[in-house]
Amino acid sequence: MAGDRTPLIAGNWKMNGLRADGRALARGVADGSAGVVVELLVCPPATLLAPVAEVLRGSSVRLGGQDCHAAENGAHTGDVAAPMLADIGCAYVIVGHSERRQDHGESDAAVRAKAAAAHRAGLTAIVCVGETEQERDIGRTLDVVAGQIQGSLPANGTAANTVVAYEPIWAIGTGRTPTPEEIQGVHAHARQSVAAALGDDVAGGMRILYGGSVKPDNAAEFMRLSDVDGALVGGASLKADDFLAIARSCG
Ligand code: PGA
Repeated sequence: MAGDRTPLIAGNWKMNGLRADGRALARGVADGSAGVVVELLVCPPATLLAPVAEVLRGSSVRLGGQDCHAAENGAHTGDVAAPMLADIGCAYVIVGHSERRQDHGESDAAVRAKAAAAHRAGLTAIVCVGETEQERDIGRTLDVVAGQIQGSLPANGTAANTVVAYEPIWAIGTGRTPTPEEIQGVHAHARQSVAAALGDDVAGGMRILYGGSVKPDNAAEFMRLSDVDGALVGGASLKADDFLAIARSCG
């Protein structure tokens, strides 16, 4: 982790939780966050944004959405617009998560349009990239990640309004992870790709998170890597103690 990039530990709750669960989890994270030096973010499902925002009021824990539409409003049944997320208290939104890319056929161009919409609404976009197991097996990881970065980051991306999350698809929810050396290699390559797209200054300041089976017992070895600036955490973010233990492992 480099000194000038504040680490970000983001919890992606995915499609989990009713209001009572969401409030309790947010309360646990907020209560345990005193003394945590990194930036903490929780991304609940859309129905929990309002109750979680209420619980987090006055705490340093930030709120984010899990997706947004590229348009500001209109006839898009079931979707949520970036200004709606900002209005409810979000500072961040995840875009291009592999579950969206796969389940909803989102292309790099669609992800870029969502990230641009996030920026227009004043949100920081967390743009997810990562290879499938098959792409890894045939040695295409670096090409895939570079191509997704090239295609998914808007031209006005800055270190302040954009975060990249490297999430190998085969590591999500599986308990399997790349080695620390592999992660550092992909992150360094990802940073070069950001530099090629947006310039060296932006790349030097942009946070690149690792995601995929991050747990309290493996987080420290990932967070010490020079190009890893935090984590996007799925399963382990559903327990406040585990999420906070991951955050503490950055220190
Ligand atoms: P996981 O999910 O931590 O459960 O592997 C990570 C993610 O999909 O963001």
